[in-house]
Amino acid sequence: MLPAAVVVYFVTDSSGGNSDAHFLPGDTSHGHHQIEMKCSVCHTDFEGVKQNACTQCHAEELEKANDSHPDTKFLDPRNADRLESINAVRCITCHQEHKPEETIKMGVTVPEDYCFYCHQDIAEVRPSHEGMGYETCATAGCHNYHDNSALYEDFIIKHLEDAPHKESPKVADRTFYHNWAAEHETTPLTSKDRDVPDGAHYTQSDVYDWERTAHAAMGINCAACHSESPETANNDNLDWQAIPDHTSCQDCHAYETKTFLQGKHGMRLAQDLSPMTPGMAKIPMNPAAAHRELSCVSCHGAHTFDTQFAAAESCMQCHDDQHTNSYKNSKHYQLWLDEVNGTAPAGSGVSCATCHMPRIEVQEFGETFTRVQHNQNETLRPNEKMIRPVCLDCHGLGFAIDALADPILIENNFSSPSSVHIDSVEMVGKRLLELGK
Ligand code: HEC
Ligand code: HEC
Ligand code: HEC
Ligand code: HEC
Ligand code: HEC
Ligand code: HEC
Ligand code: HEC
Ligand code: HEC
Ligand code: HEC
Ligand code: HEC
Repeated sequence: MLPAAVVVYFVTDSSGGNSDAHFLPGDTSHGHHQIEMKCSVCHTDFEGVKQNACTQCHAEELEKANDSHPDTKFLDPRNADRLESINAVRCITCHQEHKPEETIKMGVTVPEDYCFYCHQDIAEVRPSHEGMGYETCATAGCHNYHDNSALYEDFIIKHLEDAPHKESPKVADRTFYHNWAAEHETTPLTSKDRDVPDGAHYTQSDVYDWERTAHAAMGINCAACHSESPETANNDNLDWQAIPDHTSCQDCHAYETKTFLQGKHGMRLAQDLSPMTPGMAKIPMNPAAAHRELSCVSCHGAHTFDTQFAAAESCMQCHDDQHTNSYKNSKHYQLWLDEVNGTAPAGSGVSCATCHMPRIEVQEFGETFTRVQHNQNETLRPNEKMIRPVCLDCHGLGFAIDALADPILIENNFSSPSSVHIDSVEMVGKRLLELGK
């Protein structure tokens, strides 16, 4: 039961605006601390936290991951009895909030050996699992509760013979609009074409930077970003906005904007809260960047849009933890420098963005494009999610599983070979032999 004062609080706070942290029973989890002040996004006035509070934001990602334990599995009468020990149909059975002392990584609030409740018979079904402790099921490189896509048997079978390194390691090229200029009947613009209204303040460098970008080359003028109604913009346009935000980009860059709003960089903007800043962060940040507000220009700059700068140097202006600061010692960084210097092919370097913002095939306008996924949390945890879209472009499966399971390599940003070895790949190989395949 909620204490009366809290009920009154939720009823009077149905606006969900900036409210008082006073009523929070404890710190909110790592995943949600940024939006904790918006109580109403999870809480209802009288009925506590309902299931759709969680699914409104997470259903899509769990579905995409082919969730191993969706509620439909338990609605099957043959599995219904398993719910007696643990009600796995509700998210909050395993993901409570505001209980920092009980919360382990990924917002999980059940003891690590709970797989036991439903899989007591695993050693009978899979003799290879004989003698394994239930607290080890979810060890990196073995199983996850939701996303097991990196470890599906048929997927592993395809990669049984993988060498540690691919022949010509490289990520896919980005593809964009085929030809924006032709489709929109625009021509390249130069400084004299700028449509800044008279009286607006700007500097020569704003114009200089813009003139050298893909935007000017594609006929995209100042007002396309700076005006509410670019179509009718002219030199005395009154709706000139000095500081455009992400909404000025979204019409032309819908996928990038949508994914940006889903991750830790944009999740406050998605809730109409003030932008996130390093000063509000729970992970180590550069104090000099404490007051920088996160938006598209944090990495891209207002007018330069240098994607190589955005991919590594920009990140290091804000992030300041052991993993980030070790990146420059890695072979990956050397490969990145070779790409930037033009001595190695495009796509062969490994920047921060190569891992955290992978290039993904996206269906749009009935066609397939390779775009940059801007939600850096999508592949972050559990980290096996990085294998398919990132590591496999350049490494074999077994090599990648071992590397990601080694906490030392996470800390030193993959600056040494892995010192751990996970048996998943061999176990599948052995099982195939036993089955005579
Ligand atoms: C990201 C979702 C989320 C946000 C945001 C959130 N909570 Fe919660 N809160 C939860 C969950 C989940 C529980 C556990 C509910 C349960 O066990 O029924 C909880 C439990 C509580 C409880 C304890 C209720 C009980 O049954 O013991 C209080 C009090 C509470 N929250 C207050 C707040 C206040 C005040 C805010 C805003 C300042 C807030 N919460 C924001 C998800 C959230
Ligand atoms: C307003 C949208 C929103 C709501 C409501 C919400 N979440 Fe989240 N949640 C997020 C975002 C954004 C993140 C951070 C990005 C990420 O980790 O995917 C996150 C993170 C998480 C994480 C941690 C992932 C990690 O790697 O640490 C878990 C677990 C989670 N949410 C479960 C829930 C559950 C359970 C509920 C319902 C009580 C809920 N969420 C409600 C948006 C939401
Ligand atoms: C029986 C326990 C259990 C239930 C029920 C559960 N989870 Fe989880 N969840 C976990 C565990 C354990 C993890 C840690 C990673 C893993 O093993 O998949 C996790 C991780 C997550 C993550 C972060 C990692 C990822 O794969 O995206 C999100 C988001 C999440 N859960 C959301 C939800 C939502 C939403 C629901 C309800 C629809 C839910 N969970 C129900 C146990 C549970
Ligand atoms: C509430 C019961 C329940 C809990 C708790 C539970 N499982 Fe399951 N799990 C099932 C059911 C039901 C199935 C589908 C039928 C079967 O294989 O037994 C399943 C299937 C699986 C599969 C097969 C993969 C797939 O995608 O179909 C794996 C792997 C798995 N569970 C691992 C785990 C791990 C690891 C944990 C603990 C982190 C866990 N389970 C906790 C009920 C549960
Ligand atoms: C692709 C979108 C885009 C185009 C095209 C564009 N701008 Fe901007 N501009 C922005 C954004 C976004 C900001 C906000 C920067 C921030 O938040 O700090 C900005 C900021 C500014 C500022 C404020 C001061 C500063 O430099 O940060 C001025 C002045 C300006 N732009 C002038 C121009 C002029 C003149 C042109 C055309 C020659 C132009 N812009 C073209 C997106 C654009
Ligand atoms: C009127 C449409 C339009 C608007 C508004 C717009 N862009 Fe663009 N943007 C484009 C086009 C077209 C390209 C070039 C595509 C190509 O190279 O084929 C582009 C390219 C880019 C690139 C890639 C540059 C490169 O060198 O590869 C970035 C980054 C970018 N835009 C960011 C933004 C941001 C951030 C905003 C908002 C501040 C914005 N754009 C606003 C249409 C737009
Ligand atoms: C303007 C500062 C800034 C820039 C630039 C920036 N970040 Fe962040 N980043 C943040 C903040 C603030 C958070 C949220 C941390 C929190 O909620 O505790 C964050 C969160 C993250 C997270 C999620 C961490 C977690 O534990 O969930 C990752 C991964 C990340 N950033 C990677 C990058 C990468 C890669 C780049 C460059 C391509 C980058 N960031 C650029 C400030 C920045
Ligand atoms: C954390 C840093 C960061 C933030 C914030 C960010 N970007 Fe990017 N963006 C990048 C990087 C890095 C690349 C290039 C990655 C590559 O080449 O693989 C990129 C590429 C792009 C591209 C061109 C590639 C493509 O086809 O997807 C566009 C367009 C773009 N970003 C738009 C945006 C918009 C719009 C926003 C805000 C909604 C935004 N970006 C916010 C780092 C960022
Ligand atoms: C080879 C791939 C790779 C490269 C390159 C890489 N990372 Fe990571 N990063 C990871 C993995 C894997 C994790 C760990 C996820 C986990 O297990 O929690 C991680 C974690 C993080 C986190 C979350 C830390 C936390 O405590 O929550 C941040 C922030 C981050 N990386 C930023 C960066 C930045 C900035 C760079 C570039 C200087 C970078 N990463 C380069 C793969 C990479
Ligand atoms: C664009 C290609 C590319 C991608 C993507 C990539 N790597 Fe690498 N990686 C390489 C190359 C090339 C080497 C260096 C081989 C050599 O010279 O020894 C390397 C080296 C390594 C090493 C060995 C470091 C050492 O000092 O011995 C580890 C560990 C590693 N990568 C892990 C990963 C993981 C994990 C991922 C995915 C998160 C990943 N890599 C993504 C290309 C890539």
